[in-house]
Amino acid sequence: MANDILNAIHYRRTVNQNSFTDQDITKEDILTILNAANAAPTHKRTQPWRFVIFRNEGLERLGAELGRIYKNITPSEKYSEATEINMAKKATTSNVAIAIVVNYTGDLPEWEELAATSCAVQNLWLAAHSINIGGYWATPGLIHHLGGFLNLEENQKCIGLFYLGHHNAEPREPARSPIEDKIRWEE
Ligand SMILES: Cc1cc2nc3c(=O)[nH]c(=O)nc-3n(C[C@H](O)[C@H](O)[C@H](O)COP(=O)(O)O)c2cc1C
Repeated sequence: MANDILNAIHYRRTVNQNSFTDQDITKEDILTILNAANAAPTHKRTQPWRFVIFRNEGLERLGAELGRIYKNITPSEKYSEATEINMAKKATTSNVAIAIVVNYTGDLPEWEELAATSCAVQNLWLAAHSINIGGYWATPGLIHHLGGFLNLEENQKCIGLFYLGHHNAEPREPARSPIEDKIRWEE
């Protein structure tokens, strides 16, 4: 690739818990990643992204809550204990989990705040990748039930959990159809 930024964009991948190692992610690295998120573009500078960072026992509490919510909201005919345990494990087998929250200010259409927060997440993901930390944005339906646990305000909404870990995944090319299929030139 022509430069480090293009290289990071091309080789950033979803890395999940199967590839995470036990190596601790330092607070300094977490802040590096979050400062990259904080540099995202934002209309009227509303900076609508908010993050709740779970580490150590925080991950145990998050895992227990994910399991509890799954059990509460899943109809009994669809419920499985294995899925409940697995939900909790996503948190407890990560080194860090970050709840991604949009703070709707009312100053902009909601979609713009959502778009800006998504830009922040991409920055976060690229920054993590650039320091050899893997992760992914997870959006199970139960994130819509996390408001109380996260202490969210009326105008705030959780749009996912970002799981992070040092990892041993091999680099891989993006699986994408060609850009030519998605563009039209007008010249
Ligand atoms: C908004 C959004 C939500 C996502 N939700 C999930 C999810 O719930 N579970 C998951 O495993 N991956 C999730 N992903 C990651 C995608 O599955 C992943 O980015 C996609 O498969 C492309 O792979 P790559 O990230 O390695 O390029 C999500 C990605 C985005 C952008």
